[in-house]
Parts: sequence; C-alpha cells; structure tokens
Amino acid sequence: MRIPPIATKPRLNNCGAGDFLRELSARVVGQSQALTQIVPYVQMHQAGLSPEGRPAGVFLLLGPTGTGKTRTVEALADLLHGREKHLLKVDCGEFQMEHEVAKLIGAPPGYLGHRETPPMLTQQKLGSVTSESSDLSLVLFDEIEKAAPSMTRLLMGVLDKALLRLGDNTTVNFERALIFLTSNLGAREMHSHLKPGFGFEALAADASGVSLNKLHYIGMGAVRRHFTPEFVNRIDTIVTYQPLDPGALEGIVDIQIAALELHIENRLAERSFELEVSAAARRFLLAKGTSSEYGARELKRTILRELTQPLAAMVAGNEVPPESLVRVYPDEDGVRLLIDVIG
Ligand SMILES: Nc1ncnc2c1ncn2[C@@H]1O[C@H](COP(=O)(O)OP(=O)(O)O)[C@@H](O)[C@H]1O
Ligand SMILES: [Mg+2]
Repeated sequence: MRIPPIATKPRLNNCGAGDFLRELSARVVGQSQALTQIVPYVQMHQAGLSPEGRPAGVFLLLGPTGTGKTRTVEALADLLHGREKHLLKVDCGEFQMEHEVAKLIGAPPGYLGHRETPPMLTQQKLGSVTSESSDLSLVLFDEIEKAAPSMTRLLMGVLDKALLRLGDNTTVNFERALIFLTSNLGAREMHSHLKPGFGFEALAADASGVSLNKLHYIGMGAVRRHFTPEFVNRIDTIVTYQPLDPGALEGIVDIQIAALELHIENRLAERSFELEVSAAARRFLLAKGTSSEYGARELKRTILRELTQPLAAMVAGNEVPPESLVRVYPDEDGVRLLIDVIG
C-alpha cells in the first residue's frame, strides 16, 4: 500500500523574497542561478502584478540529467502548497502519438471516446492543485521533447493567451498557473562537451560563468532545432541547470539521509530508532554515487542500495529494537557500509 506523503503546513506563501529563495535553495542545491530566475515570477503573482492574459510564468528548464529540473517544481509545490506532489504533471513520454495528445483536451461531443476520456487539462484539475495558502497552480510538462508535435501546437495558445480550448469547446484559463517545460534537449551534447576524465567537477570548478554559458549555448542550439521560433518566443525564461559539483552532491547526500530519518520516524512510529550516519559513510556514498552522466539520480540509487535496503532488511528481520541507536560507517577496505545496532 502506498502511504500518502505527510502534508506539512506551507509557511512561505507570503514571506520575503530572500526567505523564499533560501528555502527553495535548501531543497534544490547548487542551482541558484536557475532559482533566482524563477522566484521573481512567483512573487509577481503573489503581489498581484502578473500581466493579464498570459500564464503567470512560462519556463523551459534545460541541462544534464539528474540536476534538479523536475525537483525544482516539486520543491515549489512543497513551499507553496505544503506537498511535493501538489502539481499537475504531464509526462510527455506518454504522449508520443498524436491521438494520445488528444487525451489532454478530450474528444469533441459525438466523437468516439467522448465520454470515456475526460480531458486531463480542465479548469477543475487546475483548481485541484491550488491550496488554502496559494491560488497558484504549478503545471509541469516533463521531458517535453518526447511529446508528439501536436503537443507544442496545443501549448501555443496556452503560452500565448493562457487559454486552452477543450474538445467540447469550453476553455481553460491558465492565468493563475506557472508552466514548466523540462527537457533533455542538448543534454547528450553537453555531456560530451564535459571532457571525459575531468568530469563535471572540472567544469563546475571552472569559474562557473564560462562553462555554464557554453552549456546554455549548446542547449539553446538544440532547442532552436527542435521547436519553431514562435514557440521559443512564447517562453519567458530558458534556464540551463548546472552539472552538480561535489559540494552540491554533498548537500544532496545530507538531504537524502535526513529524508530517510524522517521516514523512519514517521512510518515506524513507536518502532522507530535513531540513525547515525558517520561523515566517513557519507563520503563513501558520495564517492560511489558520483556520476557525470546521471547526476543525483545515481547518488539516490547508491543510497538506496548501500544504505536503505540493507537497513530495511534488518528492520524486517527484527534486528533493530525500538529506540536503539543504529550506527553506519564504512568497513576498513571501504568496500561497503557496516550497520551496527546499539542497545
Ligand atoms: N539540485 C538538486 N538538489 C537536490 N536534489 C536533487 C538535485 N538534483 C537532483 N536531485 C535529486 O535527484 C532526483 C532526480 O532529479 P530530477 O530533478 O528528477 O532530475 P532532472 O534534472 O533530470 O529532472 C531528485 O528527485 C532529487 O532527489
Ligand atoms: Mg526530470
């Protein structure tokens, strides 16, 4: 059974600009140049100063895999609405065929499938991802380059006038929505640009600006080849995410371990225990999970394999009494993590 995530109360709806950016940066690490471009649109909306007749913001997020593009939208949902999944997400990989794109707006009355396929993008669905603390809907078209070409045609009206006409001829208004398109366009080329053997670390260490500009340039080239100029012109901001440097990856290890601790506390309740992951264990995870190709995804997989799963096996085998202290550290050869249960 899937247990729904625990809702925390959003605290940051009307806080100062700096606070919002700080909280967002704590959730999406190492991408401050991206976040500083996104946050002003949230604040324009909160101030009631977003232009009329357009979505509150339209963003295209580019860059290497596993660097926090999708994560950014989830983190915004958490900050605005108190839940990471409180957003409307369209996985564009599921809309590779023209007839699948039609599912988003529903079939016209009288057409085959009119009743069976309620549209995915309705006013009501947009409303369902607002909350008491914010009326701003977050809409994510994830991996947009995978969708059939009619997806971009459908999006044209949304990006331009904040209007989407459904199959039954009603319209959906996107004025109170932030629209995020994420894409891996250019990511492979970006990856090969990062010199093999030097990896992302070398690039990130490089006076940040120069190489990030180069990556942005590669991404923009790929975007221009894939989309029409009319489409590109309707995007407010195109942001390129940076490869994660060692400092950012270190921050992500800490976030992941803190999340695991919270999970143990919430899910195991009175059977929960205290987890102590040593600095050496964190370095071990970092060394094993650093990948220039998959970014933090590889890190997450490493933590799951080396820490979460062995720990879960011990819990399932009743080897961890409630309220005990569980110490994690690498073995002498640095081949695997050891898990000691104390008291
Ligand atoms: N900059 C980041 N800060 C914090 N966590 C991150 C970051 N980048 C990636 N992650 C972690 O890795 C996972 C995959 O990242 P994701 O945002 O889905 O990558 P992509 O850039 O390919 O969309 C996230 O769910 C998150 O746990
Ligand atoms: Mg993604």
